[in-house]
Formats: sequence, C-alpha cells, structure tokens
Amino acid sequence: MTDRYAVIGNPISHSKSPLIHTMFARQTREDISYEAIEAPLDGFAARVMALRGKGYKGCNVTVPFKFEAFNLATQRSAQAEAAQAVNTLQFSPDGDAILGDNTDGTGLIRDIRSNLGFVLHNKRVLLIGAGGAAYGVALPLAEAGAKLTIANRTADKARTLAASFSSLRPVVSSGSLDDIADRQFDVVINATSAGLSGDRIPLPPTVFASGALAYDMMYGRETPFMKFSRAQGAARVADGLGMLVEQAAESFFIWRGIRPETAPVIEALRKFQ
Ligand code: ATR
Repeated sequence: MTDRYAVIGNPISHSKSPLIHTMFARQTREDISYEAIEAPLDGFAARVMALRGKGYKGCNVTVPFKFEAFNLATQRSAQAEAAQAVNTLQFSPDGDAILGDNTDGTGLIRDIRSNLGFVLHNKRVLLIGAGGAAYGVALPLAEAGAKLTIANRTADKARTLAASFSSLRPVVSSGSLDDIADRQFDVVINATSAGLSGDRIPLPPTVFASGALAYDMMYGRETPFMKFSRAQGAARVADGLGMLVEQAAESFFIWRGIRPETAPVIEALRKFQ
C-alpha cells in the first residue's frame, strides 16, 4: 500500500517539496505519495493529528509552523532541540509517539561540502542573521568544525543564539554587523530574510577572504546579497536550492531509510527555475 506524506505550511502553493519527493520516490522505487497541505494559521496541530488519524506516516513542516511542530513532537532529535524548531515529523507506527527532527542544518552542510566542495573544518565562517533560519544551522556549522562568527542587525539576538549552544561548541564571536568591519571569512552565509524585501545587508566590502564562498539560504532569485558578493569578488556564489534538496533527502532518509541521489534532482529543479 502507498505510504502517504505531506508538507504543511501557510502559504504552501510555492513549495517545491512535492516535486522533490516525487522525484526521490521515482528514483528509489519507494511506493509513497507526497502532497502540499495548507493549514489555517490557528489549525496546525489539528491538521497534523487528522493526517495521523488517516494513516499518514509523517510530514514536513514549513513556515510558519516549525515552532508549533517542535511543541507537538513527543520526542525530539538533538538537531531539533538546537534549532528550537522541527521540519520533519514521523508518526510511530505502533503508538502515540510523534518524532520531531530538523534536517535544515544537515542539508546546508551537505550542500556546502558535497555539492559545492568547500571545506568547513577550521575555516572562518560568518553566519548573518539570528532568526529561525539561523537557529536551524548554527550548531551544525559549529559541529562541522567551523570557526563560527554570528552577526545580526540586532546584536543581542546574535549573542542569544551563540549562548544557546556555547556550552557544546563556543563560537569565535557574536554581535552586530559593525563588529565584523575589518574581518575576512572563508564562507559567508546569509540566513536573514532581507532578500525577501530586496534589502541589501550592510556588509563591509572586504568581508570575503581569497577563495571565499558566499551562500544565500534563499533560492529562486538573485538576492542583493548574491549581487554584492559577486561584485566584491567572492570566488563562488550559491543560492539555497541545493540546501532545499539536501534537507528533503535527509527527511526522506528518516522516513524510508534510503538516501536518494540529490544531484539529478538539483539539476532538474535548476531547469524549472
Ligand atoms: P527567519 O525565520 O526567516 O530567519 P526571522 O525569524 O523573522 O525569519 O528572522 C529574520 C532575520 O533576518 C533576523 O536575523 C533579522 O534581523 P533582526 O534580528 O535584526 O530583525 C534579519 N533581517 C531581516 N531584514 C533585514 C535587513 N533588511 N537587514 C539586515 N537583517 C535583516
């Protein structure tokens, strides 16, 4: 019998997850279906419980429900705890447990290392932002051995994020965007939502070390951060499409125990863009 999965968000019509998981299923010959479901803003938990009642095996969760999914989960992975958010729920077949995980950090790190071929270990990595997107990836970056600096428009939020895992992995520094004025980085990651409004983040033009990677976690358009990075001579400029596919592959692995090939899926999505 076909196992059913879904992604739940609001809005959801833009989601590429059904396409990605359908490609994974075809490639691995797993018998699954995967659909996009829009839950009302005040109806996330009820919708998840209804899916579970209908026999769904799990779901992905996207904006704005990742924090609610964290609270709904009865068991959470270390990644989910660090992110304070859940993007993957799995319903246990034989009981009441709802397992919550967060695959965003793994997705980013796989994309940077495996797809883009950049090293993180012992490299100077700048994470810009201290909202939900930054929380999802900060500890995984530090665990990958990055010498991590977190900078945010509101400095206190960067410090709070760094403090949330400093007992596990201390960061090099955290604070405001002004604090990085004279420093260079090997990898600069934009985890802010500035690109959505077309805003440019005020970064020093000297932020990129020789051979640096500029990575925007957004995808689908060239952001001001990406334009700035090209103009300032970053060696490689990437959007977040690879991360999107990699985090989906990690969810697929959690549910099915099989790791799909991501490269052909990334390539196919690039053609649709
Ligand atoms: P998300 O879940 O996408 O991370 P969020 O939690 O609202 O969304 O966080 C948005 C992040 O983008 C924050 O780090 C925010 O900075 P502040 O904490 O100072 O608000 C950052 N951000 C949004 N617009 C920005 C801009 N124009 N310039 C710099 N940073 C911006």
